[in-house]
Parts: sequence; structure tokens; C-alpha cells
Amino acid sequence: MRELTSWLSGGGATGSFPYSAVLAEFHRAGKHFVEKEVLALLDQARTRLTAREPHARLLGDFLDVALDKWDGRYDYRSYLALRLLRLPGGDDATVGSDADRSAARRDTDRLLVRLVADALAFELTAAAGATDLLPERRPSRDVAAKRHRLGVRAVAPALARLGIAATVPDPAAATPDELRAVAADAEPDADLILRLSMLPVHVSHDEYLFIRVLQSYECLFARIAEELRATIAALATGHAGRAADRLAYARGSLTAAGPLFSLLATMQPEAFRTFREYTTGASAIQSRSYKLMESLCRTPEGSRLDSAAYRQVPEVRDLVHAGQPSIDDAYRTAVRDGLLAAPDGERVEREMRSFAAAVLQWRRTHHRLATRMLGPRPGTGYTEGTPYLAAVRSIPVFTSVAGETRPPSPTESTGGSPE
Ligand code: HEM
Repeated sequence: MRELTSWLSGGGATGSFPYSAVLAEFHRAGKHFVEKEVLALLDQARTRLTAREPHARLLGDFLDVALDKWDGRYDYRSYLALRLLRLPGGDDATVGSDADRSAARRDTDRLLVRLVADALAFELTAAAGATDLLPERRPSRDVAAKRHRLGVRAVAPALARLGIAATVPDPAAATPDELRAVAADAEPDADLILRLSMLPVHVSHDEYLFIRVLQSYECLFARIAEELRATIAALATGHAGRAADRLAYARGSLTAAGPLFSLLATMQPEAFRTFREYTTGASAIQSRSYKLMESLCRTPEGSRLDSAAYRQVPEVRDLVHAGQPSIDDAYRTAVRDGLLAAPDGERVEREMRSFAAAVLQWRRTHHRLATRMLGPRPGTGYTEGTPYLAAVRSIPVFTSVAGETRPPSPTESTGGSPE
């Protein structure tokens, strides 16, 4: 790779790293097939990095994502470039005052909209024949139009909060450029980060959508985990109204994103089965944010904590072992201490039931989607696949409030359309 060799021989300043050329090389064949010589040069670039250089963190994070297979560290987080995306709750997260909370929620809204807008821009550009990126199994124009509709619907509440109505006459038909304008980020590297976070393993068109939808859910789970932490803090100090508000926001975020699953259900199963040949070892069973969300609701029982589900997220397992508080426990304690007076106390209980219903719905839809795409094949996270999902989908979200769970009806285990 000429650009990389001359960058290395020219001193390798982080600010002038040939990102575009490297991305083009990865996109040409897919991350799984990048030539060893290119990976060796990137590895050399990484050894030169020192933390003091400007942009060193960005370049270091990118190289770790690009070299995950080379290093033998490839997993769900590196596949989705989660470290690059700076998700809610990361190092820079702001929690505390009302202003901090609003700013943190806006950051999440912006990231979510930008991820979805980018996916839709790719769909529409490809449908117009204006890109040769990931050329295999292009979907029809109708499918691209459907994806556009569903994508905009999935981010509609975030767009409303970001004030789209003030600039776009018909938000439901907003173009990807309009979405990007509403969610513009002041962070100077935001656009570059988004480009760097797209490293498909293969050249199937639909992998672009798959990656962006997973990243969008990661962004939401991370936001929800923050809201759940704040719910626990509010319950512990007897602020029932605040606890109910935070839980309601978490539930709204999860429910509103439902069309993301419908969007992913438009993926062509054959395309999915082709690129997943190269994603073995990367499974959402390794999602920290999802397990945080689960364990902040209720401390998982020993058998779940000792299962592959938690062994694959050791950081979260450690947090639970170290006594991470949960909403379930905080609620019980608040009831025992008489901190949940009506009417706010009843609202907390109602919101807990609604949040639990939203999580159970998410699991049911996920199971249906997985059944459609995967059939009887095993998962990439070394489980037997959908039988695992069928077994975990009715794990109670809370046990301190009665009547939250609804057992899945017999028809729900037969698969079908997630829409
Ligand atoms: C084509 C679409 C999808 C298929 C076929 C699928 C399949 C699976 C399978 C088979 C598992 C079990 C673990 C394994 O062996 O890999 C799993 C777990 C999981 N998936 Fe998906 N999935 C899909 C989409 C998604 C999406 C969009 C998300 C959102 C982040 C997601 C989140 C999860 C989570 C959080 C788990 C772990 C659940 C637990 O341990 O309780 N999946 N998925």
C-alpha cells in the first residue's frame, strides 16, 4: 500500500494518517480478506504511536479495530468499533445536574440519528447506482425505499427532541442529509469517526445495515443503562417521581426503536448467511450494555451469572459480584422504608411493569428475527442459536413487582415476521 508506506517513511504524524486509503483497502475485499502485507504495515504504524501525539487516541482505537483479526482479538466490540463510537456512559459521560442529563440525552439522540442516517444514505446511494461499495446482493429500489421509511420511523422521537420540525417540513420523509443536519455534531472528528466505524468483514451490501443497526442498539442500551443507574440513585434517596421519570425515558427509548428490528428484517437471509461465515466469535451475547441493562434491573441469579451469557462479559459479571445495586433491590428497600408514597410510588411500580414489558417485547421480536435469518444454525457466540434465545427470553426483568411477565404464546416460538 503506497500511501501507508510513504506515511511510515515520512515520519508517521498521526494527523496525516491515510485513513481514506486504508478504508478503501478494507472495503475492497472485506476485513476478513485484507492482505497480510497491509496488516503488517498497520501493525508497524501502531507500534509507532505515542499517547502524547494529537489524534493518537483516535488512530490507536482505529488500528485496534482494523487489526482485531490479525491480533486474534476479534469480537463483538471490535466488529462494531464500539470504542471509536464513544457511547453514552463512556469516559466523557456527563451525569449530575438536569443540564448534564439533557446534554447526555441529546448526545445519544445525535449519535443514534447519525448512525441511522448513514445507513440510509448508503441504501439510497446504492439504489441510485452511485457507489460500488459492498456490491454483492444489492437489494431492489423498493427495499431501499422501505428501509428509508423504517429508518426514519425508528429515530422519529429522537428527531423530534432535536427539533427537526423547525427545519424540515415533512420529517417522516426526511432525506439522510436532512437527518444529518439535524444531528450535526460539534465534535470535529465526528464524521471521520463514523466512517472509521464501518469495517464489514465481507462485501455483502446488507452487512452495512447489520452493523449500523447493531451499533444503534448499542447506543440505546448504553443510554438506557445510564437512565437505570439514575433510577436506582433516585429510589435510594426517596425521589420516587424522578425514578419514575428516568424509567419512563428508558422504556420510551427501547419501545421507540422497535422499527430498527423491522428494518433489519428486510435483510436478505442469504446475504446474512454469507457474511456471518466470517463473523464467528463476534456475537451480541458479548454486549456489555445489554448485560448492564439486565443486571441493573435485577441481580441475575447464580446460574445465569455462571453461564456463557455473563462469562462473555466479565466486566459486568465483576460489577455484579462487587455488589452492583439493582432497581429490584432499591425498590424493595424503598418500599420497606416507606419512601414510596402515593401517587409517585404507584407510578414507579407502573413504570417498572411497562419497562419490563418493553424488554420482553424486545426479546420476543429479536427471537423471531433470529429465527427468520438463522433457522436451525448455531449462533456466532457459540450457543446453539435460537433455542438459547427461546430459553432466555422469559427471564423475569424484575421480581419485586407482581404480574410483569407474560409467558410467550405458543405461536411466538414459530418465528415469522418481526414487523
Ligand atoms: C440477523 C439478526 C440477528 C440474529 C440472527 C441474532 C441471533 C442471535 C443469537 C443466535 C444469539 C445467541 C448467542 C449466540 O450464540 O450468538 C443472540 C444473542 C443476542 N443478540 Fe442477537 N441476533 C440478531 C440481531 C440482533 C440485534 C440487532 C441485536 C441488538 C443489539 C441483538 C442483540 C442480542 C443480544 C443482546 C444477545 C444476548 C442475549 C442474552 O444473552 O440474553 N441481536 N442473537
